[in-house]
Amino acid sequence: MKKVLLLSGSQRKESLNQRLLANLAKRIEPQVTVDMVQHGEINLPLFDQDLELNPEIQKNVFNLHSRIASSEALIVACPEYNGLITPYLKNTIDWVSRLQYLNSSCSNAFLDKPVLLVSVSTGWSGGAVGLPSARTLLGYVGCHVLGGSISIPTVSQYVKDSGFSFSADYENLIKFHLERFLRVVGAK
Ligand SMILES: Cc1cc2nc3c(=O)[nH]c(=O)nc-3n(C[C@H](O)[C@H](O)[C@H](O)COP(=O)(O)O)c2cc1C
Repeated sequence: MKKVLLLSGSQRKESLNQRLLANLAKRIEPQVTVDMVQHGEINLPLFDQDLELNPEIQKNVFNLHSRIASSEALIVACPEYNGLITPYLKNTIDWVSRLQYLNSSCSNAFLDKPVLLVSVSTGWSGGAVGLPSARTLLGYVGCHVLGGSISIPTVSQYVKDSGFSFSADYENLIKFHLERFLRVVGAK
């Protein structure tokens, strides 16, 4: 079975973007193996080249690098911080992107990985204003970022228990993009 890695740009305990990933995971799990980066699992310091050879940090970076490299594709959820992606997402990608230059057993983990971008926010934009910066960054490191994305604004109205109950329109949007993503991954 193909493997898909799910990564949230917010590591907040109550992150709505992480919650969106959990919702998407349930929908795709019958067709693919899901590896979701859980809250607090990847906590890398702010990138500094002087820290690159620190063995503890390298171990953490290697762990995430391996999870990305062994996945066929990624779904990245990212809230918008002042119109851009979060520092957490940029920092995480910066760390992983460097490993190919430090460890001869590592190549570019991002190369040619299809990526679906998704976001939710409590405000009007749904995080959509920040996604072009995610597209630029992930494209820069070698991913094939899918042309469409899922963005859901004013998401608080859809929160139900520990998940979401979306309107029919958003259900259709989610189904459309997930089916397309699974076709690209070769799982459909
Ligand atoms: C530093 C910061 C900047 C933010 N900037 C924006 C923004 O530019 N546009 C927006 O719609 N929401 C913005 N927000 C609100 C977040 O998108 C919202 O809190 C979102 O739910 C956070 O995602 P999370 O629940 O996954 O942590 C900002 C929040 C923070 C903390």
